[in-house]
Amino acid sequence: MWVKALSSILSYLLMGIGLTAAAICNNNANFTTSSTYGKNRELLLASLPLNVFAKGGFFTASTGQNSDIVYALAMCRGDYPPDVCYICLNSTIYDLIANCPNQKEALSWGVGSPCMARYANRPFLGILELEPMDSGYNTARITSNITEFDEIWDGLMDRVVIKASDGTSSLKFATGEANISVLEKIYALMQCTPDLSHEDCDTCLWQTANYYVRYWHGYGGGYVQSPNCWFRWDLYPFYTSDPSTSADLPPSTPGTSLPIITSADLLAFLLKQEKLA
Ligand SMILES: *[C@@H]1O[C@H](CO)[C@@H](O)[C@H](O)[C@H]1NC(C)=O
Ligand SMILES: *[C@@H]1O[C@H](CO)[C@@H](O)[C@H](O)[C@H]1NC(C)=O
Ligand SMILES: *[C@@H]1O[C@H](CO)[C@@H](O)[C@H](O)[C@H]1NC(C)=O
Ligand SMILES: *[C@@H]1O[C@H](CO)[C@@H](O)[C@H](O)[C@H]1NC(C)=O
Repeated sequence: MWVKALSSILSYLLMGIGLTAAAICNNNANFTTSSTYGKNRELLLASLPLNVFAKGGFFTASTGQNSDIVYALAMCRGDYPPDVCYICLNSTIYDLIANCPNQKEALSWGVGSPCMARYANRPFLGILELEPMDSGYNTARITSNITEFDEIWDGLMDRVVIKASDGTSSLKFATGEANISVLEKIYALMQCTPDLSHEDCDTCLWQTANYYVRYWHGYGGGYVQSPNCWFRWDLYPFYTSDPSTSADLPPSTPGTSLPIITSADLLAFLLKQEKLA
């Protein structure tokens, strides 16, 4: 049973879509605060922001033994620079611990900007999971001919799903645009956790896009997020750039034990923070 920690109907009504904090706890299994599982969780979650930063946007790891093993995954939206990614994950992890204080499994799609952190007491790497799903829409309605609009929208989603699932084992991310009229354009963004196969990424993205159509058809924008993929579209450009045309990111490698980031990574990060300040 998944329970949204901050359940407010307001979080579904988006004016220009400001994604809200969305920690979702799985209440099927709990641990006690002083348990080894709890300590492992804290240690592992705390290691995520810098490792995701160092690995270019995606990182997985596990720590502990037997019934105390914790598995975790973290990912940032493909168009976010590493420092923004770090800040997003840092707040997301605090939010996860605050809202799911003793649950053995939980996930969050990020505080502020989209990044995702997830942990569980079972391995989930490479496994497509469609629950829980979270969605929202823009209150503006489509005013143009909806038949014509849908045709263009479907065509764009087709292209972006293909492009995203064609990604690599370190990044499955794509954006795309289509003209509605001389003045209007639609913008779409899709991303899978890169541990998914091409087929599973394709399935995940279609499930989220279809979910949008089922619940929010006719609204001028929206998003659906699930444990393995994200989808968002809008009538204005909400992403910064396509990573395929920007700088190369270092490839990520799945971790098997609690990893330590190198001091060179940390130094590079701190220097960049200083430059931004
Ligand atoms: C776990 O804890 C949550 C909240 O503290 C509670 O609602 C839930 O029933 C608990 N689950 C079990 C299996 O004890
Ligand atoms: C991480 O988040 C916490 C809680 O929101 C905050 O107090 C801390 O300053 C953040 N650290 C960085 C480096 O952003
Ligand atoms: C919408 O466009 C379709 C296809 O071009 C057309 O058949 C239909 O009559 C249009 N509907 C309206 C209300 O203009
Ligand atoms: C969309 O419209 C712009 C100008 O309004 C044009 O330059 C561009 O080629 C069009 N794109 C497509 C895919 O038709």
